[in-house]
Order: sequence, then C-alpha cells, then structure tokens
Amino acid sequence: MKRYAVVLAAGQGTRMKSKQYKVLHPVCGKPMVQHVMDQVSKLGVEKTVTVVGFGAEQVKEQLGAQCEYALQEEQLGTAHAVMQAAPYLQGLEGVTIVVCGDTPLITAETMKALVEHHLAAKAKATVLTAIADDPAGYGRIVRNSAGGVEKIVEHKDANEEERAIREINTGTYCFDNQTLFQALINVTNNNAQGEYYLTDVIEIIKAGGGTVSAYQAPSFEETIGVNDRIALAEAERIMRERICRRHMENGVTIIDPGCTYISADATIGRDTVIYPGTVIEGETVIGEDCTIGPHAEIKNCHIGHRTSIRHSVAHDSEIGNDVTIGPFAHIRPLSKIDDEVRIGNFVEVKKSTFGKGSKASHLSYIGDAQVGADVNLGCGSITVNYDGVHKYMTKIEDGAFIGCNVNLIAPVTVGRGAYVAAGSTITDDVPGRALAIARARQVNKEHYVDRLPGTKKS
Ligand code: UD1
Ligand code: CA
Repeated sequence: MKRYAVVLAAGQGTRMKSKQYKVLHPVCGKPMVQHVMDQVSKLGVEKTVTVVGFGAEQVKEQLGAQCEYALQEEQLGTAHAVMQAAPYLQGLEGVTIVVCGDTPLITAETMKALVEHHLAAKAKATVLTAIADDPAGYGRIVRNSAGGVEKIVEHKDANEEERAIREINTGTYCFDNQTLFQALINVTNNNAQGEYYLTDVIEIIKAGGGTVSAYQAPSFEETIGVNDRIALAEAERIMRERICRRHMENGVTIIDPGCTYISADATIGRDTVIYPGTVIEGETVIGEDCTIGPHAEIKNCHIGHRTSIRHSVAHDSEIGNDVTIGPFAHIRPLSKIDDEVRIGNFVEVKKSTFGKGSKASHLSYIGDAQVGADVNLGCGSITVNYDGVHKYMTKIEDGAFIGCNVNLIAPVTVGRGAYVAAGSTITDDVPGRALAIARARQVNKEHYVDRLPGTKKS
C-alpha cells in the first residue's frame, strides 16, 4: 500500500502575536515544521506535499527539496488547505497521512502505529486522538454508544456537553487517499469560524458508508498543537526533556536536565558530562568523556574525545581530542583546533587553525591565523588582522614562542621555532629559530625624580 503525506503549514498563527510565521517558530532550536517533516520522512512515503501560504518562501527555504509544495493563497481552513494538494495526490491509490505543521512533538512511531491501526481496521479515515487534562481549544472526539467515532466538534462550535469531552483531535489523520479527496468536495464553511474544517470529512465519510476509526496516542504531550507562546514554551520543555532523556539513555551524564538545552540534532558520546547552563545547538557532535559546561554555548561544532569546554562559546568549528577551552573563551566560526590544544581565559579565536599541543592560555585575539603545532602564544598575544578595509593572514610555524603582549601585524609569518620578545610589534617576517625584538630598548634615568621641582630629596 503506497503512502503519501500532507503537512499543513499555511496558517499565519495569529495567536502567536509574532512577525514570524507560526510553523517557523523554533522548538529546541529547530522550526516546528522541520520537526514534523523529519518525522514524516521516516514513514516511507512516496510523496509529501506541504501546504504553504503565509511565509511560503521562508517555509520552502527551510524545508528545501524534502517535499513538494502546494500554495494555499487564502487561508480558508484546514479542509481547504488539504484540497490544495489535490493536483499532486487526487486519484492515487494508497493512504494519506495528514499532519499539522504546528504539532512539533509528534513522532514517526506514533504515525506508523496510526497507519497500521488504520489498515487493520480497514478504515477510510482514522483520527489520531489523545486524552487531554485541559482540552480547551482542541476539536473534541464525539463517540457513539458503541464507542465508534461519530464526529469531531471544534471547541468554538461545541456545546457544554461536548466541551466536557477530554478526548481531542490531535490534527493527525490517516485517510484512504481517494476517499479523502472525494469527501473534501462536500465540506462547507457553515460553522463558528466560517472555515472549511478538515474535521468535517469524518462525518462525510461516515455518511457515505466508510469506516471511520480512531487511534489513541500514547500520551497527550506528544500531540500538543502550538497556537500561542504558552504552548510553545510547553512544547520546548517536553522536547527538551525528551532529548535529554535520549542522551542519558545513551550514557551521557546530564547533571541538571532542567537547565540543559540540547538541539534535536546533536550527537553526544558516552561518559561525557554536561553541566548546567549548557546550550548545545545545531548539528553538533561531541565525543566521549568530554566535560561540557557549566555555561557552555556550542553551535554546529564537531568535538573529539576527552575535551573540556567550560564557560565558553564555540560556533561552527572543529575541536579535537584532549582540548581544554575556557573558562571564558570564544571560538568563532571556521576555526579548527587540533588535539591537546589549550585555549584559556579571555581568548578569542576566529577563522584560525591551531596545530596539536599549541597554547593560547590568556587574554588573546587570534584571527585569520594559521598556528602550527606546539606553539606558545603568551598572555596578550594579538594578531592584527584588519587594516580597516581588508583582513590578512598570520602564520605562526611549529614550535614558535610568542612572548606576552605581542602584536603580529598581518600579513606576517613567524618561522619554525622562532622567539618573539614580549611587548614586540612585529611587522616583518621572523625567520625560523631567530629571536625578534621589536620595541624600544629600556632607558633608566638615574635620580630623575630628585631633579623634579618640588620633590623631597631622599
Ligand atoms: C486544528 C483542528 C482541531 C485540532 C487541532 C489540533 C480543524 C478545523 N481543527 O485546530 O480539531 O484539535 O488542530 O492541533 O482542523 N492551516 C493551513 N491553512 C488554513 C488553516 C490552517 O495550512 O487555512 C494549517 C496551520 O498552519 C496549522 C494547521 O493547519 O499548521 C492547523 O491549523 P490551526 O488554525 O492551528 O487549527 P486549530 O485551531 O489548532
Ligand atoms: Ca493548531
């Protein structure tokens, strides 16, 4: 049986009160609609159609070539939205999963179980339902005396009795594809919101003699629909807990999961310890036996084993094994830090490479630099990489020793094993194994102070 999917993502999300389109609001750093798409892509579907409207261009940019797109120019309701996918799907044999772009916690496992239930029940439509403690805002599942699904009533259209129902429509469904598109033609907008409700196809399919079934999700949490910032924070919390639990199950120690923020796409090795206040974003990979945090912000980095990053920021960089970073260091994009390097307090590294065993332990700016192996950058070493118009490269070869408070005015090369005296401002290349001194020689003026007018003679 062929499978198809429709993702509804055209709504503006008025209740978010935001300039950002609803489905692009991130949960644990990833837009809601991307979470949904990532799960849908595990279902083995032939074709996925995302219905876009508000923010169509941005949604397309986010999802790229993962799916096809149907434009819903006017947002006339969820049935009208699914209808826009007709040019791609109408007439095809198979089952179609419909899911909302604002249910970021939905999992592939639950959607698979929904499809299996649907096929086993030989149903034409199966609704994924859940039991909510507070069902306000959701469509309610109205069952008949035999326990079958009778219809779905939207909160705004529901009477007192219906509002007391705690079984809700999660907005995820499985349909016989042909039945779905036939039923959609008969949906009207005669309701409290004047919209074409997808939920109305349930009654239409039933009236046409089709079997309608329901499958209850294992937890309500997985199915929450994010309509406002309160639900967004709730989704964030649940997703955060889910991600932390997965890492802990895999052998990562997380000292305080409530204060640890890990993106859905991060990978972390066994026996790594994550201290509180740590934010790990994007597609970060962290090896085994690392110490991360407290208070580390790491985005899109690739980090080896046994590395420690404390009270520091690292973005879009590669960091090797047995590296020590921080406290209070900043690794900016496109840096490549080899094994056993030490980047210490108040050191900023930008678009630079560090060879094995090199050290910048205190108070440095190293930008656009190629630092070899076993280089020692003394306290306050600075690469002067910018003349106000262009950026230039600094090259420091293996084993060089840069004294404290040295300015290396790029473009410049310090040769292999060379020494640069403390306080030097280096404008010319330093040959390998040479000592460069570039500062005025010290002059001591004996008894100078005694000769100043008004000073006491000692
Ligand atoms: C919908 C369901 C409700 C269910 C809830 C689950 C309907 C009528 N109601 O209500 O039963 O309990 O989801 O979260 O279906 N969208 C479009 N085009 C439109 C309208 C909406 O693409 O014209 C998209 C939105 O971007 C969103 C999704 O459809 O991703 C759901 O729309 P929303 O307005 O949030 O529906 P709810 O009121 O939450
Ligand atoms: Ca919603």
